[in-house]
Amino acid sequence: MKVLLCHENDIQEDDSRGFELDEGNFFAVKKDGIIYVYNNRCPHLGVPLEWQEHQFLDSDKALIQCSTHGALFKIENGECIAGPCLKQYLNKINFTIEDGQIFIQLAPSN
Ligand code: FES
Repeated sequence: MKVLLCHENDIQEDDSRGFELDEGNFFAVKKDGIIYVYNNRCPHLGVPLEWQEHQFLDSDKALIQCSTHGALFKIENGECIAGPCLKQYLNKINFTIEDGQIFIQLAPSN
């Protein structure tokens, strides 16, 4: 299933953005011009990651940070490198960009 997320220009460099869709909650990060999309779900307790709307990064904007217990994740692959879910991964979402629009690719729910 292909779902429209946003336009690629809606995500600024070194910034993140959250999305609440009928299909679930997601967030996107842009780093070095590359966009990454994940489920907004911490592998520790399964809760949303952000502490404020659209705020998914640590203060250095170098890592994704869970607001609940501070777990840190690599932007590039979602691997937890510090915190209670060490070595677990955020769920990375595949997507395509067509005419600048980001379409996430989701498995059918049943
Ligand atoms: S819920 Fe994210 S680190 Fe505990």
